[in-house]
Amino acid sequence: MSTRRGIILAGGTGSRLHPVTLAVSKQLLPVYDKPMIYYPLSTLMLGGISEFLVITTPEDRASFERLLDDGSQWGLSISFATQAAPNGIAEAFLIGESFLDGRPAALILGDNLFYGSGFSAQLQAASANVEVATVFAQRVSDPERYGVVAFDAGGIATGIEEKPEAPKSNWAVTGLYFYPSDVADVAKAVEPSARGELEITTVNSSYLDQGRLSVARLDRGFAWLDTGTFNSMVEASEFVRVIEQRQRVKIGSPEEVAYQMGFIDRDQLRALALPLLKSGYGDSLVDVADREN
Ligand code: TTP
Repeated sequence: MSTRRGIILAGGTGSRLHPVTLAVSKQLLPVYDKPMIYYPLSTLMLGGISEFLVITTPEDRASFERLLDDGSQWGLSISFATQAAPNGIAEAFLIGESFLDGRPAALILGDNLFYGSGFSAQLQAASANVEVATVFAQRVSDPERYGVVAFDAGGIATGIEEKPEAPKSNWAVTGLYFYPSDVADVAKAVEPSARGELEITTVNSSYLDQGRLSVARLDRGFAWLDTGTFNSMVEASEFVRVIEQRQRVKIGSPEEVAYQMGFIDRDQLRALALPLLKSGYGDSLVDVADREN
């Protein structure tokens, strides 16, 4: 089991989803058959992480605690903290410093959904490497909305720019980051940007400047979905629905991943499935528990 600790950043205002998010956190909204936060949680679990800090707004914290509890039902430990205002992604490491307690960290944004073949191995490789930071990048059509990686002719990353007006490539940095144990110190040195945020791009640039950043590229067969707008929410739901129904698998189920990772055993999985049979969610968990391998 990894000593790396995971932070899920699930604050923010969700203003692109108003009025839906006026009374409920974006990361609690459904993506097809489960709350959005199940997807990033499952992603980090696939990387072998079992100790989590969930950072929410002060108003939403109780709802996340009701949903996730202390994580022990899934063989995890989950604690909670709040971010008073959306002061930037890098603030996660200031809020989470005592939780990290000097361990290597993984950070995932609560509204990012990843799905693709070979991903578990990529996650576990990134998690096992505690010497360097690893970020994941994918080619997108609208790089100016993201942190953008520039590469030299040999494919080596040479720079990262936050929301550039003239992007040097189409490679966007996704909301999934692995850092060495000094990340809280690196984050403390970050000054607020022109838009007043502690930018994660500044943290990543700092590791790049030190020669300690690995940029893993997600290929075109890989799905990285953002769920921040009405259209992208519906598209993500439809994506999950099609794959789950066609292949009789679950995407982003913490129960199933907990079982696959050995955090819980077959009997515990069956027990988790029982109260979820009425919605149909439990059916596929029973399938998994019944499967020999
Ligand atoms: P954004 O999509 O940039 O912000 P948002 O979720 O508030 O949405 P909107 O643009 O509609 O207002 O944030 C990406 C993710 O990171 C999202 O899960 C919220 C989270 N986040 C925080 O929790 N705290 C922060 O300070 C920032 C910048 C983002």
